[in-house]
Amino acid sequence: MNRRNISVFSVVVGGLLLAGATAILPVQQACAQPANTRGQISFKEDIAPIFKGWCESCHQPGGQGYEASRVDLTSYAGLMKGTKFGPVVVPGEPDASTLVALIYGRTSKQIRMPFGHKPLPDCLRSNIWTWIFQGAKNN
Ligand code: HEC
Repeated sequence: MNRRNISVFSVVVGGLLLAGATAILPVQQACAQPANTRGQISFKEDIAPIFKGWCESCHQPGGQGYEASRVDLTSYAGLMKGTKFGPVVVPGEPDASTLVALIYGRTSKQIRMPFGHKPLPDCLRSNIWTWIFQGAKNN
């Protein structure tokens, strides 16, 4: 990458960081330390930050996603409560969990989260899958 490209790159990343302060994080920060290599995935360290960076702006009271679905992703309790129709996480069964179907865009309605944005980086989707597989604990 030459100098000019580097400065264009930092302007783009800087812009994304500013925009990301309230909504969606830039992808290049996401997979710096793959949690998978540590074995046990932690809700606090690995999963909550995903929701904070990519989901919370819509999934808190007053947000678009919360108002549409009643899913509150600002806490473990909110996540486990799910939608007004019931849970989106089945502990131990990621492939039966609506949350997983949604982040991969495999729902019957072809909806994918984060809604209207690029898909989550694969490392984060796989961390969510593994965390549910490991029991979806508040760890
Ligand atoms: C731009 C706003 C926005 C963002 C960001 C967003 N969502 Fe949503 N979310 C929505 C909307 C709108 C709905 C309702 C969709 C529908 O049912 O048509 C929804 C619905 C949901 C539902 C309930 C689906 C159901 O079965 O009814 C879950 C679970 C969900 N989102 C998870 C997430 C996760 C996880 C993220 C982050 C990776 C995320 N959302 C990011 C707007 C958003």
